[in-house]
Amino acid sequence: MATAAAPKVYRNFINGEWVEARGGKAYENRNPADRDELVGMFVSSSEEDVNQAVDAAKEAYKKWRLVPAPKRAEILFRAAEMLVARKEQYSREMTREMGKVLAETRGDVQEAIDMTYYMAGEGRRLFGQTTPSELPDKFAMTVRQSIGVCGLITPWNFPMAIPSWKMMPALVCGNTVVLKPAEDTPLSSYNLVQVLVEAGLPRGVVNLVSGDGPGAGAPLTKHKDVPVISFTGSTPVGRLIAEACAPKFKHYSLEMGGKNIILVMEDANLDLAVEGAIWGGFGTSGQRCTAASRIAVHKSVYKEFVGRLVERARALRVGDGLDAATDMGPCINEAQLNTVMNYVEIGKGEGAKLLCGGTRLEDGTRAKGWFYAPTIFGDTRANMRIAQEEIFGPVVSIIPVENLEEGLEVANGVVYGLSAAIYTRNVNRAFEAARDLYTGIVYVNAPTIGAETHLPFGGTKQTGNGHREAAITAVDFFTEWKTVYVDYSDRLQRAQIDNN
Ligand code: UN1
Repeated sequence: MATAAAPKVYRNFINGEWVEARGGKAYENRNPADRDELVGMFVSSSEEDVNQAVDAAKEAYKKWRLVPAPKRAEILFRAAEMLVARKEQYSREMTREMGKVLAETRGDVQEAIDMTYYMAGEGRRLFGQTTPSELPDKFAMTVRQSIGVCGLITPWNFPMAIPSWKMMPALVCGNTVVLKPAEDTPLSSYNLVQVLVEAGLPRGVVNLVSGDGPGAGAPLTKHKDVPVISFTGSTPVGRLIAEACAPKFKHYSLEMGGKNIILVMEDANLDLAVEGAIWGGFGTSGQRCTAASRIAVHKSVYKEFVGRLVERARALRVGDGLDAATDMGPCINEAQLNTVMNYVEIGKGEGAKLLCGGTRLEDGTRAKGWFYAPTIFGDTRANMRIAQEEIFGPVVSIIPVENLEEGLEVANGVVYGLSAAIYTRNVNRAFEAARDLYTGIVYVNAPTIGAETHLPFGGTKQTGNGHREAAITAVDFFTEWKTVYVDYSDRLQRAQIDNN
């Protein structure tokens, strides 16, 4: 007789060991496409667990910061090699805990691979500057110095990519870390930590504490021995983090919400624009901070564009992301699904025209998951709530505009500023848009998603707080500059005085 296998229990990683929570509590990680499937049990960490992890990271920092950066990088390089070897397994596990389709979870693991190789390469750069001194017999240079224990708090929509954006630059720069992954997707972080451990990372350099925001995230943010916090998530939580960090003068980087737009001009390649809008709007079920949740379309092509877009959206197959026939997976959890359903009601109430979707999908096995139909609102006005607020689900609002000028005004008329795109064949307009869109990322003839790891990622206004992740800008965040002057004249030389 078949018996149900006991669920796999995953533990915290503290000071080089997989350990139980101090309080002994655990929570269930379930598949959002099939609530009956238990992916695993994870630790519900408390302040005590966090304190233990921070102590370990603080102790390990003493030695790790002195390991030559190229040597630190070798460990990252080996970890990247392991990620390559395990890409398929980790992608499948990610689809089971997060829901997005396999092509996308493969992309997510690939993004972690790219970031790990990239930061491994950075181990032999970490360049500073040398520059002449204004005084004779004096040398001047800048070096990057590590900072200490970094608290990393990551979201569920990119369960491996985003932890890697934070962890790899932090480590190569000589910091140690405590990672608190999103409650919904801890397994992918567990996998990422696992490869670093196998690659030979010394004990205490990376620590993982799973759990929720109030239980584990808040004590990490407030901890006196954690001078750096890097957070990706919602704007309201980002504000709480800022409030906790500011009085302690911590370094904190916030990547928060978006209300990204695609502008479709009258001379756009419409087929391409439709493809871009489908991918930008419904990829990851719209659960990206870079999702194209608004599309501003020039009046002269509005009818045609909308007709084609709705036809394509209706044809999207929604289901289990492990099924090769699926185009779009579920929402991450019940709360997110409720948010989506609520916004659809708001949109209807505001008078936007529901063109397709607008329903939960509960037929057959889909009743076991948090599925929602790809939804498009037409005749949306730019000031409606559905066109202003981040929904984080498969809901796209289309706004008719008279010209590029109005399109740019609509684009910039939100509190967020992450990503924006324009479809046009006119190079002058493309450059005008690239200049005037006040966002951190602009795409020309491509949708709002598709960031690459060696280019800065982040946004303006309420999307961020001035930092950029990925690229060399991540190294800037995880180090502090130190300016070193060496006077070899053997006499007192006073800058600004003795040479004037
Ligand atoms: C996010 O939306 O939270 O450009 C990150 C993209 C991905 C990263 C998105 N490479 O959409």
